[in-house]
Amino acid sequence: MWLEGKHIMVTGATRGIGRALTAQLIDAGATVLAVARDREALAGLAWELGPQLQTQACDLQNAKDRAQLINTLKQAEPPLDGLINNAGIQIEADYLAASHIELAEDINMEVTINLVAPLHLCAALAPLLAQRPEGFIVNITSALALAPKQDAPIYCATKAGLRSFTTALRYQAGQVAPNLQVSECIMTLVETDMTHGRGRGKISPDRAAQEVLQGIKCGVDEIWIGKTRMLRWINRLSPALAARILRG
Ligand SMILES: NC(=O)c1ccc[n+]([C@@H]2O[C@H](COP(=O)([O-])OP(=O)(O)OC[C@H]3O[C@@H](n4cnc5c(N)ncnc54)[C@H](OP(=O)(O)O)[C@@H]3O)[C@@H](O)[C@H]2O)c1
Repeated sequence: MWLEGKHIMVTGATRGIGRALTAQLIDAGATVLAVARDREALAGLAWELGPQLQTQACDLQNAKDRAQLINTLKQAEPPLDGLINNAGIQIEADYLAASHIELAEDINMEVTINLVAPLHLCAALAPLLAQRPEGFIVNITSALALAPKQDAPIYCATKAGLRSFTTALRYQAGQVAPNLQVSECIMTLVETDMTHGRGRGKISPDRAAQEVLQGIKCGVDEIWIGKTRMLRWINRLSPALAARILRG
């Protein structure tokens, strides 16, 4: 697939992996609708990346904001060709120490941003993307979708859920929408705000974005980034070993 001339929405475009994806898509000749909450950061991005970038402030946790975004996208000109569900948050949660009230807030926020929002965006946009000559959806998950780490149970549940959803959506598209590529990107550890101060052997957001775009161009169903390629095989040969590596 050529990225040149495509109109693509990237959620979580102001920082980390989403920012690198947005800049590289623009370099490749695409136009991008960048979505995040921080209006100042969006304005800065627009100033930096120029007229191929449009922005829309949207809190993906908020159903009204999501409905507005979907409305904009349904009328987008040129029509949208691609959706990259990248925005995500990770909260550490200790189920045996925190109160139910504290956890309830985290559960609501993390499940809504990481799982509910991508599912809603896919529901609204898959039928439109299926009409494009080369439509695509990429959902960004994590190695933690294969097996969880102990510190972030809610996060891991959202990524495992998004992985399962993406596979099922790909099956549906395979039946009736041959022009729609549905991909999952299994992300490795990347040096971003999300992982600041923890984890070793992280790759840069630029390298992660390069590998994601390569996967999109090649129409790959599962885009395994960096060390997750090795983890994929470990998980096939010994799920118990993969679980031990990931649990932390
Ligand atoms: N970094 C890693 O090692 C790693 C590993 C595996 C998977 N991932 C996944 O990769 C994706 C990107 O992660 P990252 O590390 O690049 O994250 P990041 O640096 O923390 O950036 C998160 C982005 O999401 C946006 N965002 C957060 N909450 C939002 C909301 N409620 N509504 C709209 N936008 C929101 C943020 O912008 P605003 O704050 O302005 O809204 C920001 O642009 C996530 O899905 C993450 O789970 C990352």
